[in-house]
Amino acid sequence: MTTAPGIHRGLAGVVVDTTEISTVIQETNSLTYRGYPVQDLAAQRSFEEVAHLLWYGELPDAAQLSDFRARERALRPLDRTTLELLARLPETCHPMDVLRTAVSFFGAEDPTEDDGSPAANRAKSLTLLARLPTVVAADQRRRRGLDPIPPDPSLGYAENVFHMCFGSVPGPDVVRCFEISLILYAEHSFNASTFTARVVTSTLSDLHSAVTAAIGALKGPLHGGANEAVMHMLLEIGDPDRAGEWLDEALAAKRKIMGFGHRVYKEGDSRVPIMQDALDRLVARAADPEVTRLATLHAALRHAMISRKGIHPNLDYPAGLAYHLMGFDIPAFTPIFVMSRVTGWTAHITEQLAHNSLIRPLASYAGQEQRAVPAAS
Ligand code: ACO
Repeated sequence: MTTAPGIHRGLAGVVVDTTEISTVIQETNSLTYRGYPVQDLAAQRSFEEVAHLLWYGELPDAAQLSDFRARERALRPLDRTTLELLARLPETCHPMDVLRTAVSFFGAEDPTEDDGSPAANRAKSLTLLARLPTVVAADQRRRRGLDPIPPDPSLGYAENVFHMCFGSVPGPDVVRCFEISLILYAEHSFNASTFTARVVTSTLSDLHSAVTAAIGALKGPLHGGANEAVMHMLLEIGDPDRAGEWLDEALAAKRKIMGFGHRVYKEGDSRVPIMQDALDRLVARAADPEVTRLATLHAALRHAMISRKGIHPNLDYPAGLAYHLMGFDIPAFTPIFVMSRVTGWTAHITEQLAHNSLIRPLASYAGQEQRAVPAAS
C-alpha cells in the first residue's frame, strides 16, 4: 500500500533484509523452514526437532535430539521467586501481560545478560522455550483457583503443556493436533512481532528485551491476539444459521473479521489446510453435538467470508477453535502462540546479530512549518 511516492505505510511490500530462516513461496503458496516445507515438518517431525532446525539450521540426528530434549526438560521448572512474582500480578491483567513480565524478569535475573554471543543466546533461547509453558500453565491454573503443577521431565514438550495445565495428558491424537499447531506457529519470516525483535536487537540490546517487546507486538488482535478474538467471535455468533447474517452486519459496520486476511497471503494461508485437517480430526473424535455445532458455525462463517469478500482464513482461524476444543481458556491462546513463536524470534535475533545494521527508517514530515516559539506569558 503506497500512500504517496516513496512512502510505504505499514512497510507493505518493503524488503528490509535477507533471511535464511524461512520463506513464503508465492508461486506454490507454501512456507518453508530452512528449506523444508512446513506441511512435511508438521506431518513427520516433533516440535522439538523443528525448534532445533530453526536455531541450528539442520534437523537434529538422534544423539542431538536426545541431548536437546534432555536439556529442555531440565530447564522447565520455575523457582519460587518467579512463582511468587507471578502470583502477585493482578488476575485482571491479560495472560500475555503475565508472560511479558515473566520474560522481562528472567532477563533481569540473567547473569550473562551482556554476552550476546550465538552460543549464549541459544542457551537463553532454550531456557525461555522450556520455561514459557510453565508460566502459561501456572497462570491458567491460578485464574481457575488451582495450584501450579510442576513440569514432568518424562513427557515431551507438547504432552507436558497438557500435564501442567490440566493434570492429565489427553490421547495422542489431541497432543499431535496441539503439536502441529506449535510447528505451524513457530516461524513466519518478518511478521510484526519478529520484526519487533529484530528492531530491538539491531540496537545491540539483549535477547530478553527483544523477546519482551515481541510479546507485546504479538498480543494485538491484528497479529497473534486474533486466535483469541476468533473464539470470542464464534461464541458471539452462537448459531450456525446466523453466520451469514452476522457477517453482513459486521462487514456493514466495517468490523474486521478475526482470523481472516493476511498481509502476505492473498489466496489463502498455506498453513491453514494442515491445521484445518488436524481440527477436523479433533471434531470427529469428540462426537459431541456441541462440538459439531461449533465446527458447523466455523465452516459456515469461512464459507460466507470467502464468498462475500474473497478473503480467506489465516492460521488463527482453525487454531483458535482447536485450542478451545482442547480445553484451554481463551486468554491462554495467544500465550500458547508465544511458546511456539519464541523459537522463530530467537532464531531471528541470532541472525540479526550475525550481520547487524541498526534498523532506523525515515518518515516524511507532515507537521507544522518551522515557527517561532511564542514568548512565555
Ligand atoms: N475483515 C474484514 N475486512 C478485511 C479483513 C478482515 N479480516 N482483512 C482484510 N480486509 C479488507 C480490508 O478492510 C481492506 O478493505 P478495503 O481495501 O476495502 O479498505 C482490504 O481487505 C485490505 O486489508 P488491509 O487491512 O489493508 O490488509 P493488510 O494486509 O494490511 O491486513 C491483516 C492484514 C491486518 C491481517 C487483516 O487482514 C486483518 O485485520 N485481519 C484480521 C486480524 C487477523 O486475523 N490477524 C491475524 C493475522 S495472521 C497471524 O498473526 C498468525
